[in-house]
Amino acid sequence: MKLVRTVDEMAQVALSHKVGLVPTMGAFHEGHLSLFRAARAECATVVVSLFVNPAQFGANEDLARYPRDEERDARLAEDAGVDVLFTPSAEQMYPEGFATWVDVAATGGEAVARPGHFRGVATVCLKLFNLVRADVAYFGQKDAQQAAVLRRMVRDLNVPVDLRVLPTVRDEDGLALSSRNAYLSPEEREQALALPRALETGRSAADPVAAARAALNGLDPDYVEVIDVGDARVLAAAARVGSTRLIDNVVLEGELR
Ligand code: PAF
Repeated sequence: MKLVRTVDEMAQVALSHKVGLVPTMGAFHEGHLSLFRAARAECATVVVSLFVNPAQFGANEDLARYPRDEERDARLAEDAGVDVLFTPSAEQMYPEGFATWVDVAATGGEAVARPGHFRGVATVCLKLFNLVRADVAYFGQKDAQQAAVLRRMVRDLNVPVDLRVLPTVRDEDGLALSSRNAYLSPEEREQALALPRALETGRSAADPVAAARAALNGLDPDYVEVIDVGDARVLAAAARVGSTRLIDNVVLEGELR
């Protein structure tokens, strides 16, 4: 596996004609690995970007404590058959004078709960698609609204990349894998199970939002909403467990692709 640390070197790496990109912020878990494997199965070259993107964190969010372990991540990526691990610095991605932002109009869910978040995500993803010259980019269903925002951007700006959304990977007890799960104490992890359980309860209810809210078992939700994510509608929720903010969703109708 090649380790590429600068945007200039990334521009020079000779890539084959079908390049799969998995954009990540690191702290890899089985959810990331499932995306790496899907890219490996479909693409001649697999690039994984590892960049904790400051532009998508709000002022009081967890940028400083976001889990980072590049050595472990590099090992896992190499074992999964990744060809290039791209780890640019914040100074390279947002050099002095950086002044262009991609602002996709989005409503509800994360768009309201985290103002400016999707602007940071869309901007960094467009930069990554361009830098890597990606033909296909892979995302997880846990971030279904993010995938919908990026699909809108790709359509609106005619970005020549196909997006793929793969199913959320869960622990055996149902908790969606997330790098942020590392923040949870054993007791909090137990409490966090109320989130996937509430969404499961909501999925088959006449009023999914009310049923999920009622089943949250004391968790403090930022929102519980039905969100239109293009070809599908999902029941999505964000909730705090202690100081950790978790998101999850289940498909109500349609298919995430
Ligand atoms: O889903 C994430 O990890 C991030 O939002 C992404 C897509 C890597 C952009 O920084």
